[in-house]
Amino acid sequence: MKIGFIGSGQITKAVIEGIINSKLKIAKIYISKRNKKISRNLKAKSKRIIILKDNQEIIDKSSWIFLAVTPDVGNKILYKLKFYKNKMIISFISTINMTQLKKITGLKKNIVRVIPLPPIALCKGPVPIYPPNTKVKKFFDKLGTTVQINNENLSLNFWTTSAMMAPFYEILYTLSNWLVKNGIKKDNAQKYISYLFNALSEDALKYKKNLKKLVKQSQTPGGLNEQAVNDLRKAGFYNLLEKTSNKIIKRLKKSQFN
Ligand SMILES: NC(=O)c1ccc[n+]([C@@H]2O[C@H](COP(=O)([O-])OP(=O)(O)OC[C@H]3O[C@@H](n4cnc5c(N)ncnc54)[C@H](OP(=O)(O)O)[C@@H]3O)[C@@H](O)[C@H]2O)c1
Repeated sequence: MKIGFIGSGQITKAVIEGIINSKLKIAKIYISKRNKKISRNLKAKSKRIIILKDNQEIIDKSSWIFLAVTPDVGNKILYKLKFYKNKMIISFISTINMTQLKKITGLKKNIVRVIPLPPIALCKGPVPIYPPNTKVKKFFDKLGTTVQINNENLSLNFWTTSAMMAPFYEILYTLSNWLVKNGIKKDNAQKYISYLFNALSEDALKYKKNLKKLVKQSQTPGGLNEQAVNDLRKAGFYNLLEKTSNKIIKRLKKSQFN
């Protein structure tokens, strides 16, 4: 199979690294020259990667085309390209909905929206797919854990929670920095915090633990975890997560369905 990516930014980089690390059998991966640094670095990783200057050439040479540009760029450049009904279009673009994608590509079917996240480079992480599509699911099953969604409106909930990536890393950074301020070397601080949160997530996942129970089980009555979670609750930390999610989904709905 030959595949092509329009846009070579962060998410293209992660997906292609995942493909290289996976068992997927892909004969050729066409990528656009933009971004130059990323496309050059990717090319150096595999002979199967070919850089093309022209977005149309990427479409013409590929049987699956991944749209990985920002919404603004997408709205500017995709209308000018010719898409073909026998080729699969997989869009990673957050705020261009299915109706708009059909209009932009002039196609009625073979369009799928997918939400990959950077850990796809490690072949890890959830991959929501809308609408359900057996071939696309089979492909992304090799790159992470697929979740098929029937309703586009519901898929916005996953986009919303995926916006918690940067806030999550900010928590790790804040705690790591706190350790540094208290005399721990930066390397050790980062290592400790990253391993701590990795282990906690793995524990929650591996034993399919009920998250509410997990919050309870991880507190000793009168202990330090109890103090921390209660203090953060009182300060509105968790309520803010909900409020922020509500704001994000509002923005997404406005951009997609107005
Ligand atoms: N990052 C994520 O975690 C993530 C997750 C899921 C979905 N997405 C979605 O994926 C899309 C891309 O996100 P990203 O984070 O990868 O953004 P990004 O790093 O900004 O990448 C966008 C890419 O588009 C390129 N580009 C700009 N104009 C172009 C043109 N005319 N032709 C071809 N390429 C062009 C840019 O090149 P230059 O650098 O040269 O301008 C850049 O390589 C967005 O719609 C986003 O919503 C992102």
